[in-house]
Amino acid sequence: MRSARPRRFLMCPPTHFEVTYSINPWMEPDKPTDTPTAVVQWERLRNLLLGLGHRVDEITPLPGQPDMVFAANGATMVAGRVLAAKFRYPQRVDESPAYQTWFRDHGFPVIDARFVNEGEGDYLVTGERILAGTGFRTDHRSHDEARAAFGLPVVPLELVDPNFYHLDTALAVLDHEEVMYYPGAFAAASQAVLRELYPDAITANRADAEVFGLNAISDGRHVLLSGQATGLIDRLRVAGFVPIGVDVTELLKAGGGAKCCALELREE
Ligand code: ARG
Repeated sequence: MRSARPRRFLMCPPTHFEVTYSINPWMEPDKPTDTPTAVVQWERLRNLLLGLGHRVDEITPLPGQPDMVFAANGATMVAGRVLAAKFRYPQRVDESPAYQTWFRDHGFPVIDARFVNEGEGDYLVTGERILAGTGFRTDHRSHDEARAAFGLPVVPLELVDPNFYHLDTALAVLDHEEVMYYPGAFAAASQAVLRELYPDAITANRADAEVFGLNAISDGRHVLLSGQATGLIDRLRVAGFVPIGVDVTELLKAGGGAKCCALELREE
């Protein structure tokens, strides 16, 4: 049986959530959003994590930062070290100092970033290495900063489909060196790297990727993912995981899902 390891996450309530600008193909500012629905969906996600025995810290959302709910982009933390985020688009740049302040206030020193990187949106920690997205948001030169900051091998992966602009929209870490991903989001050379590293990985079809099924939070046993990703849910069950479908349809309007809402605080 697969076993869960308790985790600690940082989350940001979607108090000021709306879609007022477009920095990815999912965002349509003319389409209505409903902040109370986003809050309900977010609270359910937080309560699920708490119910599974995880710890959730909360950062105060800033007015005028509607994407701050996507805490995964706020920084990257591995073994107590924090690499600050540096956002690509001006609409989100003010989020990084807020996250940095939270980390410093909680006793975690923060390493400044020279190059653009959108935190765990593009840096996924597998246990032995860091899978690092590039192509749309994180500058490939940031990968050296991550290598230096964390002392782990960094595997660059090139994203080529604008719908999957962050690595965590196309790939999820399920357990130590176990991942699931959507091959079509990656350049051919990166697909080859993934096949070589993870020959037994679960691969998703486009329909499951498009409902953000890969934007999943796993504790090694439970996998929280979009309830619409029915194919992936079946495959996870067959692989011995306990998939838990969550409704994140409101957050999807901003191009984010479950995993985007939770930044893992890895103290060890
Ligand atoms: N609207 C946000 C953006 O485009 C969504 C971020 C989603 N976060 C994530 N970790 N994939 O920046």
